[in-house]
Amino acid sequence: MKKRILSLIVACAGLFSLRADEGMWPLVLLQKIQDPMQAAGLKLTAEDIYSINKASVKDGVVRLMQKSGRMFCTGEVISGQGLFLTNHHCGYSAIAALSTDADNILTNGFWAKSMAEERPANFNIGFLRKIEDVTGKVLDGIAINGDEAKRTEALMKKLQELNKELKDALGEDKGNYVVEVTSFYGGNQYLAMYYEVYRDIRLVGTPPENVGKFGGETDNWRWPRHTCDFSMFRIYSGTNNKPSDYAANNVAYKPEKFFPVSLKGTQDGDFAMIMGYPGRTTRYTYSEGIKYLGGKERPMRVQLRRDIMDVYEKYMKADKSVRLQYSDKLAGLGNYWNKFKGEAYDLSRPGLYEKRKAAELDFEKWVRATGKGDVYGDVTSLYDEAYRLLNEYGLYQVYFGDGVANSQAMLNAFSMRELNTLLKDKTKAADAKEMTAKLSENLVASFHGFYAPIEKQVLAEVIRHLSEDLNHDNLPALLNELVVKYKRDYNKVAEYLWNKSMFSSIAKMAKFLEKPSASKLAKDPLFAIVNEYYEIITVKLKPTYDDINSKLMRANRLFLNAQIQMNPDKAWAPDANGTMRLTYGTIMNYDPRDGVHNKTFTTAKGYLEKYVPGDFEFDAPPALLDLIRKKDYGMYADKDGELHTCFLSNNDITGGNSGSPVINGNGELIGIAFDGNYEAISSDFMFMPDMQRTISVDIRFVFFIVDKLGGAKNIVDELTLVK
Ligand code: ARG
Repeated sequence: MKKRILSLIVACAGLFSLRADEGMWPLVLLQKIQDPMQAAGLKLTAEDIYSINKASVKDGVVRLMQKSGRMFCTGEVISGQGLFLTNHHCGYSAIAALSTDADNILTNGFWAKSMAEERPANFNIGFLRKIEDVTGKVLDGIAINGDEAKRTEALMKKLQELNKELKDALGEDKGNYVVEVTSFYGGNQYLAMYYEVYRDIRLVGTPPENVGKFGGETDNWRWPRHTCDFSMFRIYSGTNNKPSDYAANNVAYKPEKFFPVSLKGTQDGDFAMIMGYPGRTTRYTYSEGIKYLGGKERPMRVQLRRDIMDVYEKYMKADKSVRLQYSDKLAGLGNYWNKFKGEAYDLSRPGLYEKRKAAELDFEKWVRATGKGDVYGDVTSLYDEAYRLLNEYGLYQVYFGDGVANSQAMLNAFSMRELNTLLKDKTKAADAKEMTAKLSENLVASFHGFYAPIEKQVLAEVIRHLSEDLNHDNLPALLNELVVKYKRDYNKVAEYLWNKSMFSSIAKMAKFLEKPSASKLAKDPLFAIVNEYYEIITVKLKPTYDDINSKLMRANRLFLNAQIQMNPDKAWAPDANGTMRLTYGTIMNYDPRDGVHNKTFTTAKGYLEKYVPGDFEFDAPPALLDLIRKKDYGMYADKDGELHTCFLSNNDITGGNSGSPVINGNGELIGIAFDGNYEAISSDFMFMPDMQRTISVDIRFVFFIVDKLGGAKNIVDELTLVK
């Protein structure tokens, strides 16, 4: 059984003949790429990077996870006392949560001068401890082309049982582990990932926001870049070095592996590899999918997000404390606003659709030639039908996340759904009471990012988009009614809802929670709208969405399975899926368009060029500008005398890789990856070797800021420096 699986991996390592620079390689495939990696400049072996027998490089890489378990970024351990680095934009929420108007560490920066000063952060980290190929266990008895509904049911059951079985086998460690069984190659392979999760994480240091986010949304996805996008935290454990909930007497965790920090710098042509947790790519998206995303889905989301962001920005510019309240939300919306905008453009560029179509015709030819029509014959018609349905119904679902969930008043209403169900059931009185207590407890927190003038206008924008962009047949009746009644004046609709609903005010909500009842909820117009909208997408349209998903899943699985057979000898890494990957490549520049050359490095001089005093995005600390003017760079200067700030390499990364270590051929840390370039912003759909670059902050710039600007010598003393 195991052999069969291994040979599948080997086969997949062969697909699509891509250049060495494409590929987010799963650790289990590293042996396959050891030779090309070493030829490119790696001095380590595959076994040094990922070993099942000894501590290896992968043990220095951490997976940032929300308390809920959702992974969001990557980090790297840099001292024997559990100190780790990630991006500023990854630590942002934790830092913002520790900031108040009186003690605004987000704006001012923060450096713990001793462990006692470190502050509890609101996320966990996971270490990847073990990878187990469970393909046989999962797919045993499940045919690749069995009836899809029955197949999914059997698969879900298997996965659930397997997850329990694997966790139970951990014995007393069980509570400290998350086990995720993840599908690769569209469900042709399954690997179980075991993460040991540490739950006591503390903030050690962060640069001021105008350094950690220098350039803001204007520079996001752009080169040249000068952002010093890092923050640092420490992992704490119980005295046995095992995970523990936060406790004042927990101690610094002793890692199996940490990265030495290189002060030697890099130059064009040097080897660079990045290890981390890329979230998702879909590089084989079907032609009609390219058309749907580029021509409809992405452009609509871009506009919806833009209109909400405009509301935020208007008020944030006028008021500093509103700015603190909304900056995290704005950055979240803005980051993918940019990305979707780029994707909308790239995916609808001439040629791409035709290229995908041509590859699909090859596939169909192969099916006919091999006579495998009974297994693969319906793939293209499944895709066609799925995208036809998505064209008609896809946006309802998307607008829940990008619209409804971005209106705080609507979210407040949405948070009452469960309580509503409990209130209607007389036998559930005790549960209703408990739920009410929980909601009351969360009330203040849920109004933390709530500025009434913004939220009222955002509500108007969301309603406008729902009503103008979507077919009214599948919109809440009351929403349609109000739009007619107020003759499409969406400000008036919002005004009406704002005044009539309790979800626009903390006082009204608190009053309701004192004596909650289903009849009061039934009378609330915002609750009625949000509740019905949610019913529409989760009940009325559920069969449609299920149908779309199962068609896409089946088509992907079969299409990828055929690709493996069609290209038995070509190199191919599977799509990103939130598991640890390695990408290797070279430090290198690029030419974004005719007549323009983007250099490999930026230097601190760029701060002097970009600096705009008092600006929303381009302000900078006077002390930093002073150091730069004096060229007071100490041991962090490059041999050219300048302070290198950010650099480019041709590594293949995506969202989730944020905060990943950039590692030289000796296994030393040279930077932290934090962005991709705009010209390759559609890389989740296609890899463009001449254009795709990773943007990283130079590790010397990071510790220059810690040391020279922050004065935190205590932190530098913890490092192992390679000079
Ligand atoms: N564009 C980066 C990414 O998605 C995130 C950059 C965050 N910075 C910002 N200014 N929003 O990987």
